[in-house]
Amino acid sequence: MKRTTCMLTALALGTSFSSVTFAEKLFTITDGELERPTGYREWIYVGTPVTPNDMNDGKAAFPEHHNVYIDPVSWEHWKKTGEFRDGTILIKELVSVGAKSAVSGNGYFQGEYIGLEATIKSREYFGSEPGNWAYFSFSTPDHKSLTTTAKAFPAEACNACHAGAAADDFVFTQYYPVLRAGKGTGADAVGGRRSDL
Ligand code: HEC
Repeated sequence: MKRTTCMLTALALGTSFSSVTFAEKLFTITDGELERPTGYREWIYVGTPVTPNDMNDGKAAFPEHHNVYIDPVSWEHWKKTGEFRDGTILIKELVSVGAKSAVSGNGYFQGEYIGLEATIKSREYFGSEPGNWAYFSFSTPDHKSLTTTAKAFPAEACNACHAGAAADDFVFTQYYPVLRAGKGTGADAVGGRRSDL
């Protein structure tokens, strides 16, 4: 059985990444299947595209809000180099449209969690995939639960569309303002620091 488990300690998260030595992957692949990632809502949030069902014939391919996160180690690398490192994992958590009006006005407000997708760049595991990216879904057809593991989709199912239309190395950075602002910009990436004011 092939098993790679990698942990990032709370200590590592709270300190300078360059000064800490730790295992670099934040995902676990066992016998070719990705275990459902955990803890990702505390990773770096990069944006929320929304494809509401009512603008997509009642059935968006990925309903509806897509909260996207990048793992913190890869974010550090992105800020420094403007590239997705080998080992990057991005999560897309699906959230239904809940209310369509609030005291602030009409709109699409987030409802319930209804699905989970992921993409990983890894030469070790996906050396034969375009760009070394592989794509996974833990969503179930009724959107009421999640699977505990997922197999990579064939390249034509997911990867091909990402290859053709995404702005930056198969990732749709054109829809993620945090990644655009952070690309290779170091400390400027975080929205400013008190000491700079
Ligand atoms: C028709 C084109 C298309 C196909 C096919 C497609 N995607 Fe995407 N994907 C997108 C677009 C556009 C975005 C960004 C905007 C959004 O979320 O709607 C995205 C974003 C993502 C993200 C967030 C990180 C990133 O790369 O931007 C993940 C994870 C993802 N898709 C997984 C998948 C999986 C899994 C499949 C296959 C089951 C898949 N995608 C198939 C177009 C596609």
